[in-house]
Amino acid sequence: MKLLGIETSCDETSASVVQDSTDLSARILSNVVLSQIEEHEPYGGVVPEIAARAHLHYLQNIIKQAIIEAKTTLEELDAIAVTGGPGLIGGVLVGVMMAKALTMALQKPFIAVNHLEGHALTPRLSHDIKFPYLLLLASGGHCQFLEVLGVGQYKRLGTTIDDAAGEAFDKVAKLMNIDYPGGPAMERLAKTGNPDRFSLPRPLKGREGCDLSFSGLKTAARVLIQKQEMSTQDTADMCASFQKAVAESLAERAEHAIKMTSSEITHFVVSGGVAANQTIRHYLQEIATANNLEFIAPPLKLCTDNAAMIAWVGLEKFKLGQIDDLSFAPRPRWPL
Ligand code: KG4
Ligand code: ZN
Repeated sequence: MKLLGIETSCDETSASVVQDSTDLSARILSNVVLSQIEEHEPYGGVVPEIAARAHLHYLQNIIKQAIIEAKTTLEELDAIAVTGGPGLIGGVLVGVMMAKALTMALQKPFIAVNHLEGHALTPRLSHDIKFPYLLLLASGGHCQFLEVLGVGQYKRLGTTIDDAAGEAFDKVAKLMNIDYPGGPAMERLAKTGNPDRFSLPRPLKGREGCDLSFSGLKTAARVLIQKQEMSTQDTADMCASFQKAVAESLAERAEHAIKMTSSEITHFVVSGGVAANQTIRHYLQEIATANNLEFIAPPLKLCTDNAAMIAWVGLEKFKLGQIDDLSFAPRPRWPL
């Protein structure tokens, strides 16, 4: 079984072909990701209108490339899966219309995939782990703890009450004139910084439940950044201090989340762009081990936005007979 996946919900134009295989390394036949970072960099963030136009411009060739790299043809596909939301609606529309046109022309099943479900099921694609498991989804737009019970079955244990973790990284980076996207750049700079130089809060520490918060942390960082002329070393120290604060905060909240799971979980999984951060991975790994859970983080290129995760959810849904009809309307908001 082979599926095409299409992802256009933010600033990555991506297409991928995945197949059903017990051999993990044989599942992804292609995963072409075109980042629009350069287009958005001058504005310090993603500009929805520019993103939508870029998707429209590139998507057709990205799909062609994905098909060629997978050494297959459109006719050989069993179905077409596409991100149906949540995301920037202009981009989602481009992907969904492309998928609908292809399914109509090829007479193939159409599957609309929730982008968050893409991140949530990625560890099944990369590691074949069984339901249920605990997931921390930490990206630019979302930050939540979920108990993943099955395809389409999620129990939200806690969520951010203000900013997402990735968003906080991006905003603090912008204050220090670090290029967009801030997260990966701050991780690089943090390598030469002192994580104990600046004293920053650990929001919601000790509070019941596993909700998260990053707004206060961001404000505390801003006050310190604006108080002084930031030298290269000051910037590196702030990057390291901020990264440590986010990592400790996520780890402390994760400990609460583990206690809140109702089912017999054996795995703690982290997914989403922020899961690419090695320091954060390290802190979460320690919490998992201390609680007798196996810690899983998908490979870096599957943590950030990509179409393989969308094609994979499509495959899981297709096997369960869950297909959609062409009346599906793209959704800017679509909670799991
Ligand atoms: O999952 P993703 O690619 O897109 C969304 O669906 O949001 O996540 C992108 C977010 C951005 O905020 C980016 O700054 C953050 O993930 N990010 C990181 C790192 N790599 C990406 N944050 C911290 N450290 C990183 N290495
Ligand atoms: Zn994402």
